[in-house]
Amino acid sequence: GAGVLAATVVGTQVLVACSSDDVRGYGGEPRALPIPPADLGTREGSSVHFALEAQTGESQILPDVTTKTWGFNGTHLGPTLVVKKGDDVHVDVTNNLDEMTTVHWHGMKLPAIADGGPHSPIGSGQTWSPTWTVANDAATLWYHPHTHGLTGLHAYRGLAGMIIVEDEATDKLDLPHDYGVDDIPLVLMDHRFLEDGSLDEEDLPDLGLLGDTPTANGITNAHFDATTRRVRFRVLNGSNMRFYNLAFSDKRTFQVIASDSGLLDEPQDRTTLAIGPGERWEIVVDLEPGEDVTLESVGFEDNYGVPDDEFVPDFGMSDSFQLLTITGPSDDAAQASALPGVLVKSTEPDVIDATERTFIMNTFSINDLQMDMQRVDVVIDHDQPEVWIVTNDNSDWPHNFHVHDARFKVLKFEGTDVELFNDGWKDTVGLPPGATATLAVEFGYYPDPQWPYMYHCHMLYHEDQGMMGQFVIVEPGDEPAAVLGSGTGSS
Ligand code: C2O
Ligand code: CU
Repeated sequence: GAGVLAATVVGTQVLVACSSDDVRGYGGEPRALPIPPADLGTREGSSVHFALEAQTGESQILPDVTTKTWGFNGTHLGPTLVVKKGDDVHVDVTNNLDEMTTVHWHGMKLPAIADGGPHSPIGSGQTWSPTWTVANDAATLWYHPHTHGLTGLHAYRGLAGMIIVEDEATDKLDLPHDYGVDDIPLVLMDHRFLEDGSLDEEDLPDLGLLGDTPTANGITNAHFDATTRRVRFRVLNGSNMRFYNLAFSDKRTFQVIASDSGLLDEPQDRTTLAIGPGERWEIVVDLEPGEDVTLESVGFEDNYGVPDDEFVPDFGMSDSFQLLTITGPSDDAAQASALPGVLVKSTEPDVIDATERTFIMNTFSINDLQMDMQRVDVVIDHDQPEVWIVTNDNSDWPHNFHVHDARFKVLKFEGTDVELFNDGWKDTVGLPPGATATLAVEFGYYPDPQWPYMYHCHMLYHEDQGMMGQFVIVEPGDEPAAVLGSGTGSS
């Protein structure tokens, strides 16, 4: 293999961009891709109850050594929560850690008091019990901590899990949907390890917890033995800082069927697909019996618009990695039928007279302000979509932008030569240096003057450094409360 591809000077550190050949835990026998258990909760009609416990443990991320990790209902990562549109969801989140954390339902439209942002601390030994009705269409969402200043570290230690929202229209489509068989959750993360196998938790200058070792569902060098000719992967980038450029080793065409917030109108053919921190894509790939193919991150040809300059970290944009080796099914696996030509008929939000707001992202601030837990940055006092125009004002750093309680369509994407695939409803959009994205944002309308929602850069080091703001949704003419949150909310 190519070995060392490039070295970047980062402050006093040299971060070596690399391929899988150099990565600890690769080479040798691959291990079977772990499938997080599907958690259907305890159901009575449309009321469904989940219990999540944040805990510590030891995990075999690397093949030859154990690593201290955090997880939900296990030692690392968490179960995949499966809910249906219209469900009344109740979750008891118990914190068995020695320190406070929070749990946020990324991508969910829901009342702010249930959103699990930084205003909803769950102290050690406490249980927080949010409840809401699922308003989202079928989609792949996720949950992770949102403790102000510590989100990155808590997620890096392993507090993250997937949420699958189902709905009736999607159930009727002929898409792979046998969880763990042909419908495969794929949580991508990256870590750095110390010699003894423990997680290296030192923030790199400017790069925070950017890792050098990619993992799939919590292990290195994972392998998937397909039993069907068509496989759907629900890919979640749960990394702190890393962007991946997904491709198969033979550059085959695959189909994108869903974005962050649900199905695309039609499947879209791709050979590469960028996925930034926090984003999800659902892809479908067809496999020949017995063939071997690898899902890789191929690095960005254009370095994601990050200048190639030895004094600027390249943010790992040039790294290429093996993410998952795959073997096709046996000869007698049934032929897959044609993918549906139309998945959904989505409507564009009507934004002709919409309120417009601008957000300028620069190093650790949005509109020149850093996160302040008691400052309301935006008040929304109506139930209409808005146009949010978001600019990455840095000329050499990437950012991305995530909005809670919302989904959006990217109406325009300007200011960069990097071509990003941004089809469908999203909740997080990548912003190469200089990029401006014009978003038509549709919010869940649950007016509550006391509890704010967040918008922020989802590169978690940036978020933790203060690239975050708060919005409050109120009844027409109302004002936000003088004091936000209650500081409690858990027992
Ligand atoms: Cu993954 Cu504020 O979110
Ligand atoms: Cu950022």
